[in-house]
Amino acid sequence: MGKILVTGGAGFIGSHTVVELQNAGREVVILDNLSNANEKVLGRIEAITGKAPVFYKADIRDREALEEIFTKEDINAVIHFAGLKAVGESVAKPWEYYENNIGGTLTLVDVMRKHGCKNIIFSSSATVYGNPAFVPITEECPKGQCTNPYGWTKSMLEQILSDIQKADNEWNVILLRYFNPIGAHKSGTIGENPNGIPNNLMPYITQVAVGKLKELGVFGNDYDTHDGTGVRDYIHVVDLAIGHVKALDKISDNPGLKIYNLGTGQGYSVLDIVKNFEEANGVKIPYSIKERRPGDIAECYADASLAKKELGWTAQYGIREMCEDSWRWQKNNPNGYDD
Ligand code: NAD
Ligand code: WQD
Repeated sequence: MGKILVTGGAGFIGSHTVVELQNAGREVVILDNLSNANEKVLGRIEAITGKAPVFYKADIRDREALEEIFTKEDINAVIHFAGLKAVGESVAKPWEYYENNIGGTLTLVDVMRKHGCKNIIFSSSATVYGNPAFVPITEECPKGQCTNPYGWTKSMLEQILSDIQKADNEWNVILLRYFNPIGAHKSGTIGENPNGIPNNLMPYITQVAVGKLKELGVFGNDYDTHDGTGVRDYIHVVDLAIGHVKALDKISDNPGLKIYNLGTGQGYSVLDIVKNFEEANGVKIPYSIKERRPGDIAECYADASLAKKELGWTAQYGIREMCEDSWRWQKNNPNGYDD
């Protein structure tokens, strides 16, 4: 069995996935340019798993660096997390997002095929459904209009990878559509480490809890949901990571092209999350109601039954544990990896 190349393996979801891969006995090589990650994560992964992953500080747009890795290492499959992911930033810097995410993936896939490695698991997103035609969202739900360039990079890359697989059936492509990943490893030593003021709900809440931010702004309370605030399918990052291990097992059956939602199937509103966080952790989260955030949708949650049927995967962690684990990471590392 060859090694697994994890692009973006020093990032939030990537680092948790490396832990689960190593726990499952897989040999991992990480490639990351550290544009949104800290090298300290490598020591933390080693402390958790007892094994230091092989690490290349490199960019997926750097063909020579990729050539070197594929020549030196016996790579059997790639789990491709590397990419820029800040929605608001992508509106201001569309060229940078298309060039990094799409340009980088095209280079990666070209080097892969030249080295005869045609197995890829791609980090896609529920954002490709746009404002979903129905909930719970199955994989049959039509893709929709994305509201920002980041979302379009995911939607376009799904199309590109699907077309490549169609043209050459030696390729196995698994597109994993993540819902809203939160939580952190139980050790509290690895977690999400956003630059600047967080855009996403859970890191914002944990920074309010730790006293770095004053109060949470709740973006709208007039949506057509049970309490008027936006509903999402939050999934524990460790469950998500295990989903990748299962997808890798699936790749060895030569599945061709497969698409799976990775979510819990359960929707929670912003105020549900605030309440669960407060009750789970005994911390108060002051908040005030603000205008709707442009581009937001009312509700988005998965039907995850296909992943259960075909990958044997279901999310194990509930919302309380997600809140506890997010908080443990933030409390122990108020400044992320900079402490
Ligand atoms: P992250 O920013 O923590 O991880 C991405 C990693 O990729 C970072 O470590 C960054 O340094 C690296 N990277 C970026 N551009 C690179 C390049 N050109 N070459 C090499 N490395 C590069 O983000 P994450 O939350 O762990 O997300 C991982 C993947 O999952 C991304 O593709 C993201 O778009 C996707 N995704 C994330 C979410 C989410 O809410 N976090 C939801 C759906 C999909
Ligand atoms: C969740 C809910 C907000 C912050 C984004 C991307 C998506 C995917 C995951 C990668 C919404 C509300 C948030 C705040 C709030 N990423 N909120 N106050 O928007 O579902 O998805 O991250 O693919 O592409 O768009 O996640 O965490 O930003 O928001 O009220 O300060 O919390 O309005 O209802 P979202 P989020």
